[in-house]
Order: sequence, then structure tokens, then C-alpha cells
Amino acid sequence: MKLTSSKITFIICLFLVGSLSVSTFAQNKGSISLFPDQAKTKISKDIYGHFAEHLGACIYGGFWVGEKSPIPNTDGIRNDVVNALRQISIPNLRWPGGCFADTYHWKDGIGPREKRPSIINTNWGGVTEDNSFGTHEFMRLTELLGCDAYINGNIGSGTVQEMSEWVEYLTSSNESPMTKLRKENGRDKPWKVKYWAVGNETWGCGGNMTPDYYGNLFRQYSTFLHDFPGNRLEKVASGASDRDYNWTETMMKNPKSRQMMQGISLHYYTIMDNWSHKGSATQFTEKEWFTTIRKSLEMDKIVTAHSDIMDKYDPQKKVSLVVDEWGNWFDVEPGTNPGFLFQQNTMRDAMVAALNLNIFNNHCDRVRMANLAQAINVLQSLILTKNEKMVLTPTYYVFKMWKVHQDATLVPLKLNCEKYIMGNDTIPSITASASKDAAGKTHITLANFDPNKSQEITCDFSGGTYSQVKGEILTANTMNACNTFDKPDEIKPVNFTGVFLKNNILKITLPSKSVVAIEIN
Ligand code: AHR
Repeated sequence: MKLTSSKITFIICLFLVGSLSVSTFAQNKGSISLFPDQAKTKISKDIYGHFAEHLGACIYGGFWVGEKSPIPNTDGIRNDVVNALRQISIPNLRWPGGCFADTYHWKDGIGPREKRPSIINTNWGGVTEDNSFGTHEFMRLTELLGCDAYINGNIGSGTVQEMSEWVEYLTSSNESPMTKLRKENGRDKPWKVKYWAVGNETWGCGGNMTPDYYGNLFRQYSTFLHDFPGNRLEKVASGASDRDYNWTETMMKNPKSRQMMQGISLHYYTIMDNWSHKGSATQFTEKEWFTTIRKSLEMDKIVTAHSDIMDKYDPQKKVSLVVDEWGNWFDVEPGTNPGFLFQQNTMRDAMVAALNLNIFNNHCDRVRMANLAQAINVLQSLILTKNEKMVLTPTYYVFKMWKVHQDATLVPLKLNCEKYIMGNDTIPSITASASKDAAGKTHITLANFDPNKSQEITCDFSGGTYSQVKGEILTANTMNACNTFDKPDEIKPVNFTGVFLKNNILKITLPSKSVVAIEIN
């Protein structure tokens, strides 16, 4: 069978169990057809990127404890956190915000720490920011993590000169006031910076601009962000929120903007109810579980619609769609600072991580970078810390299981699955994506959203022959199961025994509310 869709992958849920078909088809059955012979598009590793903002305890207490801390650290950066993030092969880290980025003046964060000014973090709780974590500390963090730096420049309250000088300070090896200053601050050689965002949410906290006005500023600022020898910046324009298609259209239709940007951002958060009632991260009903997943699945439509606009102006797909903020946003944990956005992380978050990463994989022809919000102690975190303790969340484990897709080649698939029904709403009960890695192994990642029913999936292949299979599963007895500081190992991936391969047909039994990664070769 030849796929005709213009998209690299298409996934069609043929909802086998409808009101008429219940008696015709057995429940809990579905199928996947994989097309390894049509694998051609790379899944950029940068889809698996992360985000560290000066917000709550993401930087201070999360990444940074300072050299004098009793918590084991390297140059002030927590060793446990670095080790955990290296294990998921973190490809890039976005910093210093978020909204904070458009209030951040980088020169406040260099030089002797005792001389750095304290400022008010006006976006996040009005707390004192003493600037002890700045440019040198961030670049050291990326070195320890072995990942690329993604720096978000300040367009909202900064100047062209300030942003231009930051790039020069970081990446130039020539003789100049900025490189002299860098050397005085202890760094001789320039760093490499791969990604540079020109403002953040410029429709909102980054300056409340119109897209036309921002487009002009983007081109002006970008003109002065130089590629110094040995470094090439990929510039990311501040893009749309959710379904603001006019923003993408305005930015993309300008030929000069298109030429000057390598990416344009998109922010879409999963808000369970609405901004004034986002719901608890841990205390929720099955209806709220369902609604969260349904709203998160909207990411597919949103990415498709923005990609369609981009295709109109950039059919060669030179400009990437950069989903540099995504994830669940719930009410803060009771008793915590509302400005710190601290929330727990359950099996529901694992579902949302799995489905979003599958969506990005399946759109890898246009989505070439994404950043979960945020890495530590903020929103849908990978990691929670409390003094010397560290907890890895279900979301962390999804990234660990999915890392096999980084820089692999997308294998298109067609999924036929059961409906998951709640009142008048229906969603597919399964998400899936697949890829082939450099060693020739094929990886299929799935999640069963249904918290009550298991799913039996039969998987066939067009153009591939396989003889070996293994897998991992992340699941729990309850929808709101989570890892806590007292019980950090409640949820962890274990060996998956519900998969069999015979005569090139794979049979998978996905338990209810489970996340599974399968390797075949
Ligand atoms: O991630 C939290 C905030 O959400 C970011 O600072 C901002 O860009 C977005 O509105």
C-alpha cells in the first residue's frame, strides 16, 4: 500500500467500536500498519528539548545550589540533576525564560557574584533575583549536560545593542570590548550557541505587540545578531499562542522575515478547564483525566494548521515550527507560592507527554524543536527537588523511553483504534509513533489513554522483516499515581511482557492507562 498523504505520517483512527459496531467487533482491539519502506524524514533530537526559566525553584534549588552547598554539585550545579538529564540525552535547554527573558538584562548576571545587582522578578512572585545564575553559569550547565544552548533574548525591555552585545560576548573570538569583558570574567574561548530566540510571547508578556510591529522588530534585531567565525545562530522568531493563525501568517508572508528566521515558535499549554480554574494536578476525576487528554490532543490540529500556513509560504520547509512551550498547566500545589507554578506530576502527565511527543514525531517534517515547560519544579516538570532530595516524575520516564526517537527516521504508520468515550465526547484510545534508528532497530511508542480497558493491538509491516522484540512499560494502579519525596519510586518503567512477534506480526496488549516503548529488529 502506498501512502498518498502529503504529510510524512498520517494516523487515522477508524473508531472500530461505534454504536452500531459494538456487536460486530470485539472490544479492546485495534491495529497498526507500519510502513518502514516509506521512512525518510528525520525526527530532530531537538524535539526532546527542555526549558529552564528563572521562575520558582527551577533555577534556584533546581539546577543551581551554589558551590558552597552541601548538596553535591559541580561549580554550583546539582550533580543529581545533571546525571538524570544526561540519562535522557537532553538535546537543548532554553533559558532564561519565558516571560522572565523580556525583563532580563544579561550584564546583571556576569562578573563577581557579590557585585551583581539584585532585581525583582516581576513576573514570578515578585521575589528577589540576585543574578547569581547568569551567562557563565548557564553555559557551564549546558557543558555539563552535553546539550545545545537555546538563549532567549530580551526584545521587550532591552535594546538592539544589548542583544547584539550578548551574542558577541558569547560567541566571538575577535578582539572587542565584549570579548575583553568575557575574558576578564574568566572565559577565554568563546562558547557555541546554536539557538537564539528574538523575544518571547511578544503578543503578551514580551511587549503586547501586534504581529506587524513585532515583524519589524524581529528583522531589526536579527540584523545585528551576528554569526561570528565558528558559530551559526539559528534564529527563532517569537510566534503564536495556540490558535493565533494570523500571527503565523503575518510573520511567514514577509519574505525578509522568512529569510532571516530559521524557526518560529508556537506555545500551547494543556489547560484542563480554563485559566481561572485549571484544576488540581493530583486530585481529579476520570472526566478531568479525559478532558486533559482531549485538550492535549488538540496539539495535533494546532500544529497542522500552523504548518499548513507555513507550507503556503515555505513549501521547502526551511523554517522550523518550534513548540518551545508545551505541557500541562494545573493549579499550584496547596500551600505553595502561586507565582512559583509548582505542581505534582502523575500518570495523567505521562499520557500527555507521550501523546505530545508522538504528535511532534509525526510532524517532524515541520516541527524540529520543542521544549517542555519546564525542566524542574515548574509546571509539567521532569524533576522535582526539595533540598537534597530529587524525584523523577512520570513525565521524566516518558522522555527516557522516547529518547530512542532522537535523530531517528520517522516510520509512517496507520492506526486503527477504539474510541474512548466520555459523555458526548470521544477521543482515540491510543497514541502511537514509530521510527528507525541508525542501527536499523525500529521503535514504536504508544499510550493507552483508557483507564479501564486494555487494548489488543495487532501490528503488521510493509517492507520490513523482524525477528526480535522487547519493550518497556510505565503504568500504575491509579490515574493519579505519582512519585513523591517519601516514595520516589512508585512509578518507574519496567520490562514489558505483553508483546509477541510471530511471522512478522506483532501482538501487543496495552494495559489500561499505560505508556509503552517497543523495540523490534
Ligand atoms: O512557562 C511559564 C510561562 O508561560 C512562560 O514564562 C511564558 O512564556 C508562558 O506564558
